[in-house]
Amino acid sequence: MNQHIHITIDGPSGAGKSTIAREVAKALGFLYVDTGALYRAAALGVLEQGVDPKNVHEVCEALSSLEVSMKLSPEGQRTLLNGRDVSGRIRTPEISTAASFIAQYACVRSFLLDVQRDIAASNSVVMDGRDIGTTVLPNAQVKLYLTASAKDRAFRRYHELRTKGESVSFDEVYREILQRDERDMNREV
Ligand code: DC
Repeated sequence: MNQHIHITIDGPSGAGKSTIAREVAKALGFLYVDTGALYRAAALGVLEQGVDPKNVHEVCEALSSLEVSMKLSPEGQRTLLNGRDVSGRIRTPEISTAASFIAQYACVRSFLLDVQRDIAASNSVVMDGRDIGTTVLPNAQVKLYLTASAKDRAFRRYHELRTKGESVSFDEVYREILQRDERDMNREV
């Protein structure tokens, strides 16, 4: 019998999933697992090989030379690409867009499925993403879906990026959120 407790938080970009997941994990002493970071690391690996994220065949082929993993501790998650810590490098608008393209491909989703399930098999987790309650951990004890209007989510992202010193405009961020929603919500797999 599985004695671990699994809490899933799914929803679109910028709804505040990671903020809530982190707080809940801290309060309960569970591990917080940000699955978007895995998609971002895979996207970085694809870009580093000079592959166009829009080319499904090349992306699927590129996966064979990538290893994406996570180092988890109560202090937080580090995301590794071929053993390299890429946690800082995957938080750019370029990686957001590339991740959202490659996340549409079945080969990418199945490539990352085991990494996510392996972590949950040996830990109580609060895991956030897009398909955690439906596909990754369908037997989770608690499943949440968190959303907000596209304008509100864009506003949060805009503030986050400005705080980090990025010179973006609100319109740019809003447009990017709408485009990502379109891909993230209408993919076949
Ligand atoms: O949550 P995020 O912005 O870091 O996620 C980056 C991209 O990865 C996002 O555009 C959708 C994709 N993703 C996904 O398809 N499934 C997940 N479980 C997590 C993220």
